[in-house]
Amino acid sequence: MQIIRSVGELADYVAMQKNHHHSIGFVPTMGALHAGHISLVERAVEENGVAVVSVFVNPTQFNNPVDLATYPRKEEEDFRLLAKAGVSAVFAPSVEEMYPAGTERDHEYNLGSAAEVMEGKFRPGHFQGVAQVVHRLFELVRPDRAYFGEKDFQQIAVIRNMVESEHLPVEIIPCPIKRAEDGLALSSRNALLTDEQRLRAPEIHAALKDSVAYAANHSVRATHDSVVERLDAVPEMRVEYFEIVDGRTLMPVEEWDEAEMVVGCITVYNGNVRLIDNIRYK
Ligand code: PAF
Repeated sequence: MQIIRSVGELADYVAMQKNHHHSIGFVPTMGALHAGHISLVERAVEENGVAVVSVFVNPTQFNNPVDLATYPRKEEEDFRLLAKAGVSAVFAPSVEEMYPAGTERDHEYNLGSAAEVMEGKFRPGHFQGVAQVVHRLFELVRPDRAYFGEKDFQQIAVIRNMVESEHLPVEIIPCPIKRAEDGLALSSRNALLTDEQRLRAPEIHAALKDSVAYAANHSVRATHDSVVERLDAVPEMRVEYFEIVDGRTLMPVEEWDEAEMVVGCITVYNGNVRLIDNIRYK
């Protein structure tokens, strides 16, 4: 596996793959890799001539400096896992290499109304930062396909909007959430949980899962409230938002039959650790 630190070296690597007509599968990550990331990587390896992974903690998508400073970093371990999974090249640049002219955005992305709700409301600027880094990575890696985990359900919708508005020739491939045996959605942030918080964390998925059965004979509002009340009653947990939305537009629904695909998206503080998850109702 080639470890690439500079944009110039990456350009050479990509040009060589294109010359050999190898399709490029790409998995952008912020490192601290877990089995969820590896499942995306394995698909990229399987479905393409070569698989490229980026490991870059993107400062422009953090609206909280403490969150950025405490974001887990485990580069050596990440490289070991990626080599084992059959990745051809890993791109792990410095902030200066990614943003030579500084991290200030010179372009406001058209991300549609999907970027205004939920994460967009609670983390102002977050999706502009995600779009900025993913756009730059797509321009450098020039992938045929890019793989994203459905845990970040809203992020996938926003990236699709960015790809469409910037006319980028890349196919976005959503991949199912990977969970621990006890149901907790795998996330790099899980490493920040204390033992007690980790023991309580599966309650998030349990509440969502039980709400699917509850939804069969209750309204959207009652289903919403049952999840929030249950999780807010868990010590150290606080629901930041729980929204039941149209899975395509991400706009809230009031009735179950308002949309073909209905998804519940949740963000919960478990102590100081912000965890997200989602569940499909239909
Ligand atoms: O989902 C993530 O880990 C990040 O938002 C991404 C897509 C790698 C951009 O920094």
